[in-house]
Amino acid sequence: MRHASLVACGALLASVLAGLATERQLQSASGWRWSLPGYFQPPRVPPDNPMTEEKFQLGRRLFYDPRLSGNGTQACASCHFQHLAFTDGKAVSTGSTGEETARSAPSIANVAWSPTLTWANYSILDLERHMLVPMFGENPVELGIDDSTRETVLQRLRGDADYRARFARAFGPAGGQISYARLIQAIATFQRGVVSANSRYDQSLAGQARLSDSEERGRALFFSERAQCASCHSGPNFTDQYADVTTQAVRTPFHNTGLYNLDGQGAYPEPNRGLLELSGKPADMGAFRTQSLRNVAVTAPYMHDCSIATLEGVLDHYAAHGRSIASGPMAGDGSRNPFKDPRLDRIRLDARDKADLVAFLKTLTDEQLLTSPRYADPFK
Ligand code: HEC
Ligand code: HEC
Repeated sequence: MRHASLVACGALLASVLAGLATERQLQSASGWRWSLPGYFQPPRVPPDNPMTEEKFQLGRRLFYDPRLSGNGTQACASCHFQHLAFTDGKAVSTGSTGEETARSAPSIANVAWSPTLTWANYSILDLERHMLVPMFGENPVELGIDDSTRETVLQRLRGDADYRARFARAFGPAGGQISYARLIQAIATFQRGVVSANSRYDQSLAGQARLSDSEERGRALFFSERAQCASCHSGPNFTDQYADVTTQAVRTPFHNTGLYNLDGQGAYPEPNRGLLELSGKPADMGAFRTQSLRNVAVTAPYMHDCSIATLEGVLDHYAAHGRSIASGPMAGDGSRNPFKDPRLDRIRLDARDKADLVAFLKTLTDEQLLTSPRYADPFK
């Protein structure tokens, strides 16, 4: 008896000490449970597409189903692999008809918390709208659904009794007709449910893991003035583009990190001049969204165009306040890019600091995300 109550008391104390870091179960009105540490509030979810398990499971199937492309060869998962944190490890991805994308495929983990989508676009604000790009986009063609295949794709799914049953369960018999609006809602629900918040770093905050001395030094540096990392890679998702249910004013900053300076006046190579491609404003040259650093150890190569191969290379770039390219078509001193964010120049890192920062970044890998059957291909 006495022993039992001591154990209970110890457990209570541990959970109080771990405080905000312990996992909580937050249930939404639709019955969906968010399992999140205290520093992650649930994400914003469109009122007309509430989270449910039926929709999540349907969306997962559709995400992995090549029948969802015009020529039946490619699925969302063809460019977003679970074991690479839903990136594809390539500088550019190849679509269903062989066309190449302009930039690399970012992770979809924790995308529910991202107020804008893709590398540099302030106008794509929700997953439902974003999905029109890979499905119907022509520049480049990804899944390649066009006027000639629009009905064919739906007929493929409508002809499958399992899908008919799943759509009916997810949307109710009255709303369960298989349509683009419905399947987009289901895939968006799956993507919102792909959560990464159980890395060794998270476990260390919860008192369930210990960081090594080097990792711990890297952690302290990451959040310091001297490294500046956390001034952009801030908050629970390691990016300053973050919004949850409690966010009042959503901020969507984009930054130039001095990767290029082609003409000495700050030019980045086309078609990857960042926000400028959309806004046409000269000051937006080279401005990209701060990437989340969760699972960054498995998402190489790095930056929007994958022009840096390793994390060590990324740290060299930051320590030099920008990248200098000596010769060739990309030659130029990025550290003198006039549009560069001024924080880059405050960074002071020596060789050991860089190694410690890399060690810390590697603690952000979430094995559960990379291996959980919940996010895996249901057809296997
Ligand atoms: C041919 C490869 C390819 C296919 C197929 C593909 N994607 Fe992507 N995805 C990309 C690339 C490349 C980007 C980055 C685009 C950019 O920044 O311009 C991207 C971006 C995204 C993003 C934005 C992530 C972020 O961090 O902002 C999401 C979400 C996404 N894709 C989901 C999907 C879904 C859902 C499907 C299927 C309907 C899909 N993708 C199909 C290559 C692909
Ligand atoms: C001024 C804001 C800012 C600061 C400071 C900053 N970053 Fe970044 N980081 C970005 C942006 C923006 C990108 C994407 C740039 C691009 O692709 O052109 C990025 C990209 C990265 C990437 C590549 C991610 C990927 O998936 O390709 C890594 C790794 C990274 N930063 C680590 C760090 C570290 C470590 C520090 C501190 C030494 C740091 N950053 C400081 C804004 C910043």
